[in-house]
Amino acid sequence: MATLLIFFVFMNLDVLLRMGHCTETRDQILSITPKTQEHVDILRNISTQYETALWQPVSPQYIKEETQVHLFVPANSSETVKDLLQRHAVTHEVLLANANELIEMQTRNDSTDPRSGSTFYERYHSLEDIYYWINRTAHDNPNRVKIILVGSSYEKRPLYALKLSFNNRTNKKAMWIDCGIHAREWVSPAFCLWFVHYSLSFYNINQDITHILDNMDVYVLPVLNPDGYKYTWTSNRMWRKNRSISKTTSCIGVDLNRNFDANWCTEGASHDPCTEIYCGTFPESEPESQAVANFLRSHKDTVQLYLTIHSYSQMLLFPYSCTLEEAENHRDLLEMAQEAAQKIRRYYRNIYRYGAGAKTIYFAPGGSDDWAYNLGIKYSFTFELQDRGRYGFLLPPSHISGACNEALLAVKTIALKVIQKTQAPTSPSPTF
Ligand code: ARG
Ligand code: ZN
Repeated sequence: MATLLIFFVFMNLDVLLRMGHCTETRDQILSITPKTQEHVDILRNISTQYETALWQPVSPQYIKEETQVHLFVPANSSETVKDLLQRHAVTHEVLLANANELIEMQTRNDSTDPRSGSTFYERYHSLEDIYYWINRTAHDNPNRVKIILVGSSYEKRPLYALKLSFNNRTNKKAMWIDCGIHAREWVSPAFCLWFVHYSLSFYNINQDITHILDNMDVYVLPVLNPDGYKYTWTSNRMWRKNRSISKTTSCIGVDLNRNFDANWCTEGASHDPCTEIYCGTFPESEPESQAVANFLRSHKDTVQLYLTIHSYSQMLLFPYSCTLEEAENHRDLLEMAQEAAQKIRRYYRNIYRYGAGAKTIYFAPGGSDDWAYNLGIKYSFTFELQDRGRYGFLLPPSHISGACNEALLAVKTIALKVIQKTQAPTSPSPTF
Protein backbone atom coordinates (compact mmCIF):
# COMPACT_ATOMS: atom_id res chain seq x y z
CA MET A 1 0.00 0.00 0.00
CA ALA A 2 2.71 2.45 1.03
CA THR A 3 4.78 1.59 -2.01
CA LEU A 4 1.78 2.19 -4.21
CA LEU A 5 1.27 5.57 -2.59
CA ILE A 6 4.88 6.55 -3.08
CA PHE A 7 4.64 5.41 -6.67
CA PHE A 8 1.64 7.67 -7.24
CA VAL A 9 3.31 10.63 -5.65
CA PHE A 10 6.32 10.24 -7.88
CA MET A 11 4.22 9.73 -10.99
CA ASN A 12 2.34 12.94 -10.30
CA LEU A 13 5.56 14.75 -9.67
CA ASP A 14 6.87 13.55 -12.95
CA VAL A 15 3.71 14.65 -14.76
CA LEU A 16 3.88 18.07 -13.19
CA LEU A 17 7.51 18.48 -14.10
CA ARG A 18 6.87 17.44 -17.69
CA MET A 19 3.99 19.89 -17.91
CA GLY A 20 6.54 22.61 -17.40
CA HIS A 21 5.56 23.65 -13.87
CA CYS A 22 8.53 23.57 -11.65
CA THR A 23 7.46 21.83 -8.52
CA GLU A 24 10.02 22.49 -5.84
CA THR A 25 10.77 19.51 -3.68
CA ARG A 26 13.24 21.21 -1.39
CA ASP A 27 13.07 23.97 1.20
CA GLN A 28 14.85 27.08 0.04
CA ILE A 29 16.13 30.41 1.26
CA LEU A 30 15.36 33.32 -1.02
CA SER A 31 17.05 36.68 -1.01
CA ILE A 32 14.81 39.51 -2.13
CA THR A 33 15.52 43.24 -2.22
CA PRO A 34 12.28 45.21 -2.44
CA LYS A 35 12.62 48.20 -4.74
CA THR A 36 9.32 49.95 -4.11
CA GLN A 37 6.77 50.32 -1.33
CA GLU A 38 4.55 47.92 -3.28
CA HIS A 39 7.29 45.29 -3.12
CA VAL A 40 7.59 45.90 0.60
CA ASP A 41 3.85 45.34 1.05
CA ILE A 42 3.91 42.14 -1.00
CA LEU A 43 6.81 40.75 1.03
CA ARG A 44 5.10 41.64 4.30
CA ASN A 45 1.99 39.91 3.04
CA ILE A 46 3.85 36.79 1.92
CA SER A 47 5.81 36.45 5.14
CA THR A 48 2.71 36.74 7.30
CA GLN A 49 0.10 34.90 5.20
CA TYR A 50 2.10 31.96 3.93
CA GLU A 51 4.01 29.20 5.59
CA THR A 52 7.44 30.80 5.47
CA ALA A 53 10.01 31.89 8.04
CA LEU A 54 11.53 35.32 7.91
CA TRP A 55 15.28 35.14 8.58
CA GLN A 56 16.12 38.74 8.02
CA PRO A 57 14.77 41.11 9.21
CA VAL A 58 13.34 39.43 12.29
CA SER A 59 9.85 40.81 11.77
CA PRO A 60 7.83 41.96 8.70
CA GLN A 61 7.54 45.49 10.10
CA TYR A 62 11.27 46.03 9.50
CA ILE A 63 11.12 45.16 5.79
CA LYS A 64 12.04 48.26 3.87
CA GLU A 65 13.04 49.37 0.37
CA GLU A 66 16.56 48.59 -0.86
CA THR A 67 17.32 46.29 2.07
CA GLN A 68 17.87 42.57 1.61
CA VAL A 69 15.22 40.20 2.91
CA HIS A 70 16.14 36.57 3.63
CA LEU A 71 13.12 34.30 3.52
CA PHE A 72 12.91 30.59 4.28
CA VAL A 73 10.36 29.01 1.95
CA PRO A 74 9.39 25.39 2.60
CA ALA A 75 8.93 23.20 -0.49
CA ASN A 76 5.16 23.10 -0.17
CA SER A 77 4.73 26.88 -0.38
CA SER A 78 7.47 27.40 -2.93
CA GLU A 79 5.23 27.51 -5.99
CA THR A 80 2.71 29.90 -4.46
CA VAL A 81 5.39 32.23 -3.15
CA LYS A 82 7.37 32.31 -6.39
CA ASP A 83 4.17 32.85 -8.41
CA LEU A 84 3.22 35.78 -6.21
CA LEU A 85 6.65 37.33 -6.54
CA GLN A 86 6.65 36.88 -10.29
CA ARG A 87 3.16 38.28 -10.70
CA HIS A 88 4.21 41.47 -8.97
CA ALA A 89 7.55 41.60 -10.78
CA VAL A 90 9.58 41.20 -7.61
CA THR A 91 12.88 39.58 -8.48
CA HIS A 92 14.45 37.07 -6.15
CA GLU A 93 17.67 35.19 -5.86
CA VAL A 94 17.94 31.69 -4.47
CA LEU A 95 20.35 31.99 -1.57
CA LEU A 96 20.20 28.31 -0.61
CA ALA A 97 18.63 25.94 -3.10
CA ASN A 98 18.59 23.00 -0.77
CA ALA A 99 18.07 23.84 2.87
CA ASN A 100 17.17 20.23 3.67
CA GLU A 101 20.65 19.10 2.73
CA LEU A 102 22.20 21.74 4.99
CA ILE A 103 19.93 20.82 7.87
CA GLU A 104 20.92 17.22 7.36
CA MET A 105 24.56 18.28 7.49
CA GLN A 106 24.00 20.16 10.73
CA THR A 107 22.27 17.28 12.47
CA ARG A 108 24.48 14.51 11.19
CA ASN A 109 26.56 13.21 14.02
CA ASP A 110 29.64 11.91 12.36
CA SER A 111 31.49 11.18 15.58
CA THR A 112 31.31 7.54 14.61
CA ASP A 113 32.78 8.23 11.21
CA PRO A 114 36.57 7.86 11.58
CA ARG A 115 37.12 9.72 8.31
CA SER A 116 35.62 12.91 9.63
CA GLY A 117 38.43 14.92 11.13
CA SER A 118 36.11 17.16 13.12
CA THR A 119 36.15 17.23 16.88
CA PHE A 120 33.20 17.29 19.28
CA TYR A 121 33.36 21.09 19.37
CA GLU A 122 33.19 21.36 15.59
CA ARG A 123 29.77 19.78 15.44
CA TYR A 124 26.28 20.77 16.54
CA HIS A 125 24.79 18.86 19.42
CA SER A 126 21.33 17.86 20.52
CA LEU A 127 20.05 19.12 23.85
CA GLU A 128 20.58 15.69 25.41
CA ASP A 129 24.19 15.67 24.25
CA ILE A 130 24.72 19.12 25.71
CA TYR A 131 23.28 18.08 29.09
CA TYR A 132 25.57 15.07 29.02
CA TRP A 133 28.53 17.27 28.13
CA ILE A 134 27.74 19.66 31.01
CA ASN A 135 27.83 16.79 33.47
CA ARG A 136 30.95 15.26 32.09
CA THR A 137 32.80 18.58 31.97
CA ALA A 138 32.00 19.27 35.63
CA HIS A 139 32.84 15.73 36.61
CA ASP A 140 36.19 15.75 34.81
CA ASN A 141 37.24 19.13 36.25
CA PRO A 142 35.99 19.05 39.83
CA ASN A 143 38.35 21.81 41.02
CA ARG A 144 37.52 24.26 38.29
CA VAL A 145 33.97 23.67 37.09
CA LYS A 146 30.74 23.63 39.06
CA ILE A 147 27.21 23.15 37.82
CA ILE A 148 24.69 25.73 38.93
CA LEU A 149 20.98 25.16 38.43
CA VAL A 150 19.69 28.65 37.70
CA GLY A 151 16.07 27.66 37.07
CA SER A 152 13.93 25.62 34.76
CA SER A 153 12.22 26.18 31.44
CA TYR A 154 8.51 26.42 30.66
CA GLU A 155 8.48 22.68 29.88
CA LYS A 156 10.45 22.07 33.08
CA ARG A 157 13.85 21.37 31.62
CA PRO A 158 16.77 22.40 33.85
CA LEU A 159 18.72 25.57 33.06
CA TYR A 160 22.29 24.70 33.95
CA ALA A 161 25.12 27.17 34.04
CA LEU A 162 28.75 26.22 34.49
CA LYS A 163 30.84 28.25 36.86
CA LEU A 164 34.49 28.34 35.86
CA SER A 165 36.57 29.32 38.84
CA PHE A 166 40.33 28.83 38.70
CA ASN A 167 41.21 30.28 42.10
CA ASN A 168 39.60 31.48 45.32
CA ARG A 169 40.89 35.02 45.38
CA THR A 170 38.90 37.25 47.74
CA ASN A 171 36.57 39.77 46.11
CA LYS A 172 36.79 37.89 42.85
CA LYS A 173 34.79 39.48 40.06
CA ALA A 174 32.98 37.58 37.34
CA MET A 175 31.58 37.63 33.84
CA TRP A 176 28.46 35.97 32.48
CA ILE A 177 27.94 34.44 29.03
CA ASP A 178 24.64 33.03 27.85
CA CYS A 179 23.97 31.22 24.61
CA GLY A 180 20.95 29.93 22.79
CA ILE A 181 18.31 32.45 23.87
CA HIS A 182 17.01 32.16 20.30
CA ALA A 183 16.48 28.53 19.42
CA ARG A 184 17.44 28.50 15.76
CA GLU A 185 20.80 30.25 16.25
CA TRP A 186 22.70 27.00 16.64
CA VAL A 187 26.21 28.39 16.45
CA SER A 188 25.49 30.18 19.73
CA PRO A 189 25.36 27.13 22.04
CA ALA A 190 28.29 25.78 20.04
CA PHE A 191 30.19 28.91 21.09
CA CYS A 192 29.47 28.40 24.80
CA LEU A 193 30.85 24.87 24.60
CA TRP A 194 33.83 26.14 22.63
CA PHE A 195 34.55 28.80 25.23
CA VAL A 196 34.48 26.38 28.16
CA HIS A 197 36.67 23.90 26.33
CA TYR A 198 39.14 26.61 25.36
CA SER A 199 39.32 27.92 28.94
CA LEU A 200 40.04 24.46 30.31
CA SER A 201 42.56 23.61 27.61
CA PHE A 202 44.50 26.86 27.34
CA TYR A 203 44.71 28.10 30.91
CA ASN A 204 48.43 28.56 31.59
CA ILE A 205 49.13 28.22 27.89
CA ASN A 206 47.45 31.25 26.38
CA GLN A 207 48.40 34.42 28.20
CA ASP A 208 45.11 36.24 27.68
CA ILE A 209 42.73 33.53 28.85
CA THR A 210 45.05 32.90 31.81
CA HIS A 211 44.94 36.56 32.83
CA ILE A 212 41.14 36.60 32.47
CA LEU A 213 40.59 33.43 34.51
CA ASP A 214 43.08 34.59 37.14
CA ASN A 215 40.98 37.69 37.68
CA MET A 216 37.43 36.61 36.94
CA ASP A 217 35.12 33.70 37.42
CA VAL A 218 33.03 32.90 34.36
CA TYR A 219 29.41 31.78 34.39
CA VAL A 220 28.43 30.06 31.17
CA LEU A 221 24.82 29.17 30.38
CA PRO A 222 25.03 27.08 27.19
CA VAL A 223 21.32 26.84 26.38
CA LEU A 224 19.08 29.56 27.79
CA ASN A 225 16.08 28.32 25.79
CA PRO A 226 16.20 24.50 25.96
CA ASP A 227 12.55 23.96 24.96
CA GLY A 228 13.01 25.98 21.79
CA TYR A 229 16.37 24.36 21.05
CA LYS A 230 14.89 20.89 21.43
CA TYR A 231 12.05 21.92 19.12
CA THR A 232 14.50 23.01 16.41
CA TRP A 233 16.03 19.54 16.49
CA THR A 234 12.77 17.63 16.39
CA SER A 235 10.08 19.68 14.67
CA ASN A 236 10.92 23.03 13.17
CA ARG A 237 14.49 24.10 12.47
CA MET A 238 13.40 27.74 12.13
CA TRP A 239 11.91 28.15 15.62
CA ARG A 240 13.10 31.25 17.52
CA LYS A 241 11.03 31.72 20.70
CA ASN A 242 10.50 29.59 23.78
CA ARG A 243 7.55 27.16 23.83
CA SER A 244 5.15 28.67 26.30
CA ILE A 245 1.47 28.36 25.61
CA SER A 246 -0.76 31.41 25.44
CA LYS A 247 -4.21 31.53 27.01
CA THR A 248 -5.67 33.61 24.22
CA THR A 249 -4.42 32.03 20.99
CA SER A 250 -3.03 28.82 19.60
CA CYS A 251 0.22 30.62 18.76
CA ILE A 252 3.13 29.40 20.84
CA GLY A 253 6.22 31.03 22.29
CA VAL A 254 7.59 34.28 23.66
CA ASP A 255 10.68 36.00 22.29
CA LEU A 256 12.84 35.76 25.40
CA ASN A 257 14.95 38.66 24.19
CA ARG A 258 11.88 40.90 24.34
CA ASN A 259 10.78 39.65 27.76
CA PHE A 260 13.21 41.51 30.01
CA ASP A 261 12.29 44.65 31.90
CA ALA A 262 13.93 47.29 29.69
CA ASN A 263 11.29 49.56 28.12
CA TRP A 264 9.35 46.33 27.86
CA CYS A 265 7.15 45.90 24.78
CA THR A 266 7.58 49.39 23.38
CA GLU A 267 8.39 49.94 19.68
CA GLY A 268 10.31 46.95 18.30
CA ALA A 269 8.37 44.26 20.18
CA SER A 270 4.79 43.05 19.86
CA HIS A 271 1.86 42.12 22.08
CA ASP A 272 0.71 39.68 19.39
CA PRO A 273 1.58 36.09 20.42
CA CYS A 274 1.67 35.09 16.76
CA THR A 275 4.68 37.26 15.95
CA GLU A 276 8.36 36.33 16.30
CA ILE A 277 8.93 39.31 18.59
CA TYR A 278 6.12 38.65 21.06
CA CYS A 279 7.10 40.19 24.40
CA GLY A 280 4.98 37.93 26.64
CA THR A 281 2.31 39.01 29.11
CA PHE A 282 4.55 41.04 31.41
CA PRO A 283 8.32 41.53 31.98
CA GLU A 284 9.94 38.26 33.06
CA SER A 285 6.69 36.39 32.47
CA GLU A 286 8.79 33.49 31.17
CA PRO A 287 10.65 31.15 33.51
CA GLU A 288 13.78 31.29 31.34
CA SER A 289 14.18 35.08 31.42
CA GLN A 290 13.16 35.20 35.07
CA ALA A 291 15.79 32.61 36.01
CA VAL A 292 18.57 34.59 34.33
CA ALA A 293 17.32 37.87 35.81
CA ASN A 294 17.13 36.37 39.30
CA PHE A 295 20.63 34.96 39.05
CA LEU A 296 22.11 38.24 37.86
CA ARG A 297 20.21 40.25 40.48
CA SER A 298 21.71 38.12 43.20
CA HIS A 299 25.21 38.34 41.68
CA LYS A 300 25.17 41.93 40.48
CA ASP A 301 27.92 43.01 42.84
CA THR A 302 30.39 40.56 41.35
CA VAL A 303 29.35 40.32 37.69
CA GLN A 304 31.10 43.09 35.76
CA LEU A 305 30.60 41.90 32.21
CA TYR A 306 27.46 40.50 30.59
CA LEU A 307 27.65 38.75 27.20
CA THR A 308 24.81 37.19 25.24
CA ILE A 309 25.51 35.26 22.06
CA HIS A 310 23.28 35.28 18.97
CA SER A 311 23.63 34.73 15.23
CA TYR A 312 23.66 35.74 12.44
CA SER A 313 24.94 39.05 10.94
CA GLN A 314 28.39 39.59 12.51
CA MET A 315 27.83 42.45 14.90
CA LEU A 316 29.05 43.52 18.32
CA LEU A 317 26.19 45.44 19.94
CA PHE A 318 25.87 47.23 23.25
CA PRO A 319 23.16 49.26 25.03
CA TYR A 320 20.86 50.70 24.26
CA SER A 321 18.57 48.76 21.97
CA CYS A 322 15.43 49.98 23.73
CA THR A 323 16.04 53.71 23.27
CA LEU A 324 18.12 56.02 21.10
CA GLU A 325 19.65 57.52 24.22
CA GLU A 326 23.34 56.90 24.68
CA ALA A 327 24.56 54.74 27.52
CA GLU A 328 26.43 56.73 30.15
CA ASN A 329 29.71 54.93 29.26
CA HIS A 330 28.96 54.85 25.53
CA ARG A 331 32.52 55.94 24.63
CA ASP A 332 34.02 53.04 26.60
CA LEU A 333 31.67 50.50 25.11
CA LEU A 334 32.24 51.80 21.60
CA GLU A 335 35.99 51.68 22.03
CA MET A 336 35.90 48.12 23.31
CA ALA A 337 33.63 46.90 20.51
CA GLN A 338 35.77 48.69 17.97
CA GLU A 339 38.97 47.15 19.28
CA ALA A 340 37.38 43.69 19.20
CA ALA A 341 36.10 44.19 15.65
CA GLN A 342 39.49 45.45 14.50
CA LYS A 343 41.19 42.39 15.92
CA ILE A 344 38.76 40.10 14.12
CA ARG A 345 39.42 41.95 10.91
CA ARG A 346 43.17 41.79 11.36
CA TYR A 347 43.43 38.14 12.42
CA TYR A 348 40.50 36.54 10.64
CA ARG A 349 39.76 38.94 7.77
CA ASN A 350 36.12 39.14 8.73
CA ILE A 351 34.02 42.27 9.09
CA TYR A 352 31.97 42.85 12.22
CA ARG A 353 29.83 45.94 12.53
CA TYR A 354 29.53 47.44 15.98
CA GLY A 355 27.57 50.08 17.86
CA ALA A 356 24.60 50.74 20.10
CA GLY A 357 21.78 48.32 19.23
CA ALA A 358 19.02 50.78 18.42
CA LYS A 359 21.23 52.77 16.06
CA THR A 360 23.01 49.81 14.50
CA ILE A 361 20.07 47.52 13.73
CA TYR A 362 16.65 48.40 15.07
CA PHE A 363 14.69 49.11 18.20
CA ALA A 364 14.51 45.93 20.23
CA PRO A 365 13.19 46.63 23.73
CA GLY A 366 13.09 44.03 26.49
CA GLY A 367 16.53 42.65 25.62
CA SER A 368 18.73 40.99 28.20
CA ASP A 369 21.73 43.23 27.43
CA ASP A 370 19.86 46.48 28.15
CA TRP A 371 18.29 44.97 31.25
CA ALA A 372 21.66 43.77 32.61
CA TYR A 373 23.12 47.18 31.87
CA ASN A 374 20.38 48.95 33.81
CA LEU A 375 20.89 46.52 36.67
CA GLY A 376 24.38 47.97 36.97
CA ILE A 377 26.48 45.63 34.83
CA LYS A 378 28.09 48.46 32.90
CA TYR A 379 29.82 46.25 30.35
CA SER A 380 27.07 44.52 28.45
CA PHE A 381 27.24 43.18 24.90
CA THR A 382 25.22 41.21 22.40
CA PHE A 383 27.33 39.32 19.87
CA GLU A 384 25.85 38.32 16.55
CA LEU A 385 28.16 35.62 15.20
CA GLN A 386 28.69 34.37 11.61
CA ASP A 387 27.71 34.65 8.99
CA ARG A 388 26.30 37.61 7.05
CA GLY A 389 23.68 35.63 5.16
CA ARG A 390 25.46 33.08 3.00
CA TYR A 391 24.16 30.24 5.18
CA GLY A 392 22.42 32.21 7.91
CA PHE A 393 21.12 29.93 10.66
CA LEU A 394 22.23 26.91 8.64
CA LEU A 395 25.95 27.57 9.07
CA PRO A 396 27.70 24.29 8.16
CA PRO A 397 29.60 22.52 10.96
CA SER A 398 32.85 23.14 9.10
CA HIS A 399 32.41 26.87 9.86
CA ILE A 400 31.97 26.45 13.63
CA SER A 401 35.67 26.71 14.44
CA GLY A 402 36.14 29.92 12.44
CA ALA A 403 33.01 31.50 13.90
CA CYS A 404 33.93 30.55 17.47
CA ASN A 405 37.59 31.51 17.26
CA GLU A 406 36.86 35.01 16.08
CA ALA A 407 34.13 35.45 18.70
CA LEU A 408 36.53 34.15 21.33
CA LEU A 409 39.04 36.78 20.29
CA ALA A 410 36.35 39.43 20.80
CA VAL A 411 35.43 38.04 24.23
CA LYS A 412 39.06 38.01 25.31
CA THR A 413 39.66 41.53 24.03
CA ILE A 414 36.64 42.90 25.88
CA ALA A 415 37.20 40.94 29.10
CA LEU A 416 40.83 42.09 29.30
CA LYS A 417 39.70 45.68 28.85
CA VAL A 418 37.11 45.32 31.61
CA ILE A 419 39.75 43.96 33.98
CA GLN A 420 42.13 46.73 33.03
CA LYS A 421 39.50 49.43 33.58
CA THR A 422 38.04 48.14 36.83
CA GLN A 423 40.55 46.05 38.70
CA ALA A 424 43.79 47.16 40.27
CA PRO A 425 46.58 45.14 38.70
CA THR A 426 47.64 42.15 40.79
CA SER A 427 49.71 40.46 38.14
CA PRO A 428 51.25 42.20 35.15
CA SER A 429 48.67 42.50 32.39
CA PRO A 430 49.60 41.13 29.00
CA THR A 431 50.61 43.64 26.39
CA PHE A 432 48.94 43.31 23.05
N1 ARG B 1 18.97 40.03 16.85
C1 ARG B 1 18.76 40.35 18.24
C2 ARG B 1 17.28 40.40 18.52
O1 ARG B 1 16.52 40.71 17.64
C3 ARG B 1 19.43 41.65 18.55
C4 ARG B 1 19.52 41.93 19.98
C5 ARG B 1 20.13 43.28 20.28
N2 ARG B 1 19.88 43.66 21.64
C6 ARG B 1 18.69 43.90 22.14
N3 ARG B 1 18.57 44.26 23.36
N4 ARG B 1 17.64 43.78 21.46
O2 ARG B 1 16.85 40.08 19.58
ZN1 ZN C 1 19.00 36.13 18.27
